[in-house]
Amino acid sequence: MSPMSDTPTTPLSVALKAATAPTHGVLDQRIMAFNPFAGREHYAAFLQMQYRFHRDVDALFSDPELNRLLPGLSERRRFHQVAQDLADLGLTPSGDDTPPAFVPGAAVDVPGALGWLYTEEGSNLGGAFLFKLAARIGFDENQGARHLAPHPEGRAPSWKAFVAQLDAVPLDADGRARAAAGAQAAFARVLGHVEACCPLPVAQGTPA
Ligand code: HEM
Repeated sequence: MSPMSDTPTTPLSVALKAATAPTHGVLDQRIMAFNPFAGREHYAAFLQMQYRFHRDVDALFSDPELNRLLPGLSERRRFHQVAQDLADLGLTPSGDDTPPAFVPGAAVDVPGALGWLYTEEGSNLGGAFLFKLAARIGFDENQGARHLAPHPEGRAPSWKAFVAQLDAVPLDADGRARAAAGAQAAFARVLGHVEACCPLPVAQGTPA
């Protein structure tokens, strides 16, 4: 579905999924090409990437208006878990010298922020697969893969509840477009973090 065919009768979550499907595909492939579960060093790079993304969105979870629209939002944040995962591996975060996408205390464009939160919460749904792979190299909800663990009420129920809240937010066409732009910006941001933290080996035989 192109953004042109997005109409207010389409639930927002469905429109956001359609708007970000191509980038999601690119991102999945790029992450798996890096092979984050090849060993401790690759996993550490993956964690640095996740750290940067969760740091980007962390301020949104304490925003009063977003918490009013999405009750319980503040309990969904995963930044502290990612930071703890890094600490479990004896690592300190990289990238703290640059500002996050959302600065604590700054004014937030609510529809755009909804798009960012859609991307962040969706990543926990898709994270089921990553959580299983992390277990193979010895990381779990108690050590190293805390941020990939399901939310306490379960992965699918948590996602369904979030989507219901998201879809109940009244937005006009402009708000929906801003939400879609926010979701796309979040995916683009993650892709940038992957490029920075998870470099692929330089292809052999490629002309300089
Ligand atoms: C290798 C990495 C990834 C894989 C294999 C993956 C895979 C998946 C899968 C299988 C689903 C569907 C789950 C279901 O419907 O039960 C999903 C959903 C989703 N993922 Fe990913 N994902 C990856 C990384 C990410 C990242 C890094 C983000 C964003 C930061 C992300 C954002 C989303 C979103 C927003 C959804 C929800 C789509 C919807 O509206 O239904 N994913 N992912």
